[in-house]
Amino acid sequence: MNSVQRPVVLSGIQPSGRLTIGNYLGAIKNWLPLHEQYDCYYMLVDLHAITVRQDPKVLRERCYEFLALYIACGLDPAKNVLFVQSHVPAHARLSWVLNCYTQMGELNRMTQFKDKSAKHVDNINAGLFDYPVLMVADILLYDTAQVPVGDDQKQHLELTRDVAIRFNNIYLEQNGGQPVFQVPEPMIPPVGARIMGLQEPTAKMSKSDDAETNSVYLLDTPDVITRKIKRAVTDMDGSIRYAPAEKPGVSNLLSILSATSGESIAALEARFAGQGYGALKSATAEAVVECLKPVQARYNELREDRAGLQRVLKDGAERASQRADATLKRVHDVLGFIPQ
Ligand code: TRP
Repeated sequence: MNSVQRPVVLSGIQPSGRLTIGNYLGAIKNWLPLHEQYDCYYMLVDLHAITVRQDPKVLRERCYEFLALYIACGLDPAKNVLFVQSHVPAHARLSWVLNCYTQMGELNRMTQFKDKSAKHVDNINAGLFDYPVLMVADILLYDTAQVPVGDDQKQHLELTRDVAIRFNNIYLEQNGGQPVFQVPEPMIPPVGARIMGLQEPTAKMSKSDDAETNSVYLLDTPDVITRKIKRAVTDMDGSIRYAPAEKPGVSNLLSILSATSGESIAALEARFAGQGYGALKSATAEAVVECLKPVQARYNELREDRAGLQRVLKDGAERASQRADATLKRVHDVLGFIPQ
């Protein structure tokens, strides 16, 4: 443990779909340096995943796959706490408590619940409705200061703040005048790349997209990557300029090329002035293939060493539990539960 308390960053990853270059360039890459300033916790949220029906074999393999990919992308388990949500019982236990401090009306307003229940009409279970409360528990257990999340999760983060503030107010005196929970903030990424779909460049590239050709997956072969990028949607204008509103497809290719090659967008615009989209696509495909090569090589090594991945998770769960259990104890104390 650190003797100096550093602020905590925590994020949860749904082990569903397949990780894309959007996840890597737009999120994971931004997380890599955070451990220098923060205590970082990244967890695979398997308890959240079962709010929609999962095939057990697929779920298990995907958790290993995601873990190996995160490490292969550079997330070092010695410097970040990587763990699985179900390995830390405090998540389920705090979420029960917080259910009793969250209003039905608040959960009814959550747009993700509305979207997901429309998509899974045959399985609108209580867990799906209650999903945000588990996320509130995830965040509050670690005294989290900053939560890197996408736009679709902002509403859940607002709920987290509301529940934390409410609970703190109720139990302020009981807790000796100290707030029980740290109230978290969303973490706005520096200027990370926002990678859009190749076929639909006006919407973010997604790991759970049904259209195979809209995303480049981290485990796509070089051939597949090249084919997908060559077929990316562009426009009829013919000039290589970064103008997302007017030229979403070309701008997206420039973003991808810039993020994978390290060259600035302005430099790329200058380099490709007067050239056709074919040249831009070839260069982008090549840069993506090169960028993923070491990630895939490292992934293949890690993926073969299941015992090694299990050790990472065991260690992660132990480190996570230390902090989570301390918070849960504080909560049980203020509630008036008999100490164990
Ligand atoms: N709900 C998040 C998503 O779907 C995943 C998640 C679960 C999460 N718990 C979290 C994200 C805690 C940040 C912090 O993307």
